[in-house]
Amino acid sequence: MQPKYKITMKEYHLSATMRVYAWDELSEEQQSLLRIAKDQTERSYCPYSGFHVGAAVLLGNGEVIRGCNQENAAYPSGLCAERVALFAAGAQYPEQPVTKLAIACYTDGHFTKEPGSPCGACRQVMLETEHRYGNKMEVLLYGEDAVYVFDSAADLLPLIFVSENLKG
Ligand code: THU
Repeated sequence: MQPKYKITMKEYHLSATMRVYAWDELSEEQQSLLRIAKDQTERSYCPYSGFHVGAAVLLGNGEVIRGCNQENAAYPSGLCAERVALFAAGAQYPEQPVTKLAIACYTDGHFTKEPGSPCGACRQVMLETEHRYGNKMEVLLYGEDAVYVFDSAADLLPLIFVSENLKG
């Protein structure tokens, strides 16, 4: 039987850069977007999990679009804060690239010490948004102890699936 592949095994190490900041080290713009994401946790509809997630998206034209998680008695019908914000941005300003996305999580009476991390489905949507506009999106994850910053959503999801992959 012929071998299917004419390659030999190679090992690759995929890497990504995450920067960890104290609040005071962030720019005014970053702080302002994170404050909006924190405020948004108050509007979260999360009667089932009690886990409040707020998101704020900054667009190329300076507009800020807000999101928060929306749960449902039929659990899978709900949606994460990040996708609520990104889809609202796409619906309201389809021509505008997303330049920053900030997220904050609040549960048991306080913001989480460690930043919450976007779920896989949200990462996929963040990547499609970067790809769609050809523009990197800075991702800011709020934690009481530190803020994590990624220059691009691509740092959160290697080997992405995008429109080119559909062409085979
Ligand atoms: N959630 C988000 O809104 N964003 C994430 O990235 C992770 C999880 C929401 C979904 C659900 O309403 C609650 O947090 C608990 O999973």
